[in-house]
Amino acid sequence: MTQAAVVDVHLTSDHATRSLRADARRGLTADPKWLPPKWFYDARGSDLFEQITQLPEYYPTRAEREVLQRRADEIAAQTGARSLVELGSGSSEKTRLLLDALHGRSGEHGNLSEFVPLDVSEAALREAVAVIVADYPGLRVHGVVGDFTEHLDRLPGAAPRLVAFLGGTIGNLLPGERAPFLSSVRGVLDDGEWLLLGTDLVKSPDVLVPAYDDSAGVTAEFNRNVLHVLNRELGADFDVDAFSHVARWNAEQEWVEMRLRATRGMRVRLPEIDLEVDFAKGEELRTEISAKFRRERVEVELAAAGFALASWWTDPDDRFAVSLARAR
Ligand code: SAH
Ligand code: TRP
Repeated sequence: MTQAAVVDVHLTSDHATRSLRADARRGLTADPKWLPPKWFYDARGSDLFEQITQLPEYYPTRAEREVLQRRADEIAAQTGARSLVELGSGSSEKTRLLLDALHGRSGEHGNLSEFVPLDVSEAALREAVAVIVADYPGLRVHGVVGDFTEHLDRLPGAAPRLVAFLGGTIGNLLPGERAPFLSSVRGVLDDGEWLLLGTDLVKSPDVLVPAYDDSAGVTAEFNRNVLHVLNRELGADFDVDAFSHVARWNAEQEWVEMRLRATRGMRVRLPEIDLEVDFAKGEELRTEISAKFRRERVEVELAAAGFALASWWTDPDDRFAVSLARAR
């Protein structure tokens, strides 16, 4: 029998609109201009991201899936998790490997009784919840529409919990945002509970840059989607086609930077926040960073937040790492 799923909406459209307004004002009046990445992910943005995960150049999803395929049983045995919380869950497609090991298709494996995916994208979350409820009978699925930088205090789930943060999404936080974020995850866990963290690894820019600048132009479309969101939500008049996609390796910071470059000078109006913004020809707006990691940095940052690294696994080509850490 299929159980009904619960979806809690902590991020009401009213709250989202207010925070989008504040972010747009802050970012577009800054020098250089920038926007926070969570605004990529409306229904279309989530859809474009799913297309990115299937591109030949975008290796992180495949590499992380290889690790999970090999290690899911070990993760289940080591953690004995009764609930799995997933932050920035998106389609939760790779997470099925964990659900298979922790629960099985009808509860024949492991202790898992509850799955709690959390995402800002309500469309992506609802779709994932529907698919998982249908495919895992007997599993309680409790979706949360929320912001993982704000709503961690409201996570349901029986102990011991395993919090999964996959896809290298931690790399989309600035270094100064990572420490408070990891501490807040630690703060909602009891001693002995678990974090499973996916991090993309430092490698040649010849591999990294194409992963964020594919030949089919899907990533460019994804990047420009944030301008469509501003046009729709704030009545802005960005000429989206007048911005080109830029992906650049910053060797000093060890992150890939995504930008949108104005191909001509222009004035953009955002009437709903009473703002006019000028772009010079060639001016760039930073939309995202995707930090790449080395083992030592992951271990040190986890330790600083109160986690002990229990296992570090990489794919056979050492492109991507999955860390299992224990709250201590
Ligand atoms: N975990 C999936 C998706 C990664 S893409 C995978 O590994 O393929 C990043 C996901 O995080 C998107 O689904 C996006 O909607 C979500 N996201 C981005 N910023 C967020 C935030 N501040 N709070 C909650 N979810 C966020
Ligand atoms: N978490 C993903 C990553 O850093 C998000 C992402 C993939 C992304 N491709 C992108 C963000 C292109 C902005 C632009 O790999």
